Amino acid sequence: MTLQEAMQAVEAKMYEIVNSDVDVLRDASRHILQAGGKRVRPRLLLLAYAANGGQDFASVVPVAAAVELVHTASVVHDDINDHGVVRRGRPSVNAIWGRTFALLTGDYLFTKVYELMAPHRDLNVVLSEATVALVEGETLQASAVKNNDFSRQVYYDIIARKTAALFRSATRLGALLANAPESIVEAMGAYGFNVGLTFQIIDDVLDIVADSEKLGKTAGVDIAQGRGFAVAHGGMGQPGGVAVVEETFDDSMVAIRNKVMRGGAIDEAYRQAETFAQMAIESLRPLPDSPAKESLIEMANAMVKRER
Ligand code: IPE
Ligand code: IPE
Ligand code: MG
Ligand code: MG
Repeated sequence: MTLQEAMQAVEAKMYEIVNSDVDVLRDASRHILQAGGKRVRPRLLLLAYAANGGQDFASVVPVAAAVELVHTASVVHDDINDHGVVRRGRPSVNAIWGRTFALLTGDYLFTKVYELMAPHRDLNVVLSEATVALVEGETLQASAVKNNDFSRQVYYDIIARKTAALFRSATRLGALLANAPESIVEAMGAYGFNVGLTFQIIDDVLDIVADSEKLGKTAGVDIAQGRGFAVAHGGMGQPGGVAVVEETFDDSMVAIRNKVMRGGAIDEAYRQAETFAQMAIESLRPLPDSPAKESLIEMANAMVKRER
């Protein structure tokens, strides 16, 4: 099975497993899955597996599908919290079915992860570390916004948990499934973690500089909701800074956005993202050369340049 075939098998697995006879759960789950998405996390898992000598893609497909379902569940819930009405170029689950069914659809997707992971014993611990961190990260973010305490330090703690932890789990899982030694599993985890930080910083940049249509999701929400890289690095989310708590993108938001774009926050974000991407690539040093390793290097670099 090639990588491309394995990615198709991941799609099929996810689609097949959300087979509830409760129409809303099945329809809403299939809606969000069929909308697409970049599928970055399962791809990283499969590449980490291959880069460590793994040859049986078919055997790791369910775990890759589980990782992507965790992510999918998290965006369904995230759109409730962030009032996102567009996701993956389509109306979000909450926009179509409302908050209650979006909450339940996210729960359903999370619950299906148990089923996929059931045969994998210890690997459950690796994935559950990420799901716990994700919930902690989203909670810390909501608290920091509420308390007007969105400092740089808090920002990095939040993105480490809400995003980088799942990337770390994905690459660690790939290495563990290939029976890599502990030191290599850790190195692969460091790679995933730093790629995840890069990924979220660029997500925050795109929230400011890209439009919703290009992104396929509601843009401009971070500043409006008092969070994200620019808020943390522009001193806006801290005591004495500019309080940003409105939830609508009105004229004052446009003014703040323009100020951020003129200021140095975007450049700084790219510098930070680049630094983390290089740290990720550095972590791959102990791996022997292979096409999969090359792809991992390419992916880390591509994260900095991505436009969606
Ligand atoms: C969005 O993730 C949420 C973040 C962690 C930034 P992705 O950008 O991977 O979303 P999809 O799966 O491609 O829609
Ligand atoms: C990442 O944060 C959220 C998750 C971990 C689900 P964002 O709130 O920035 O994600 P988007 O921009 O809505 O995809
Ligand atoms: Mg969001
Ligand atoms: Mg975002």
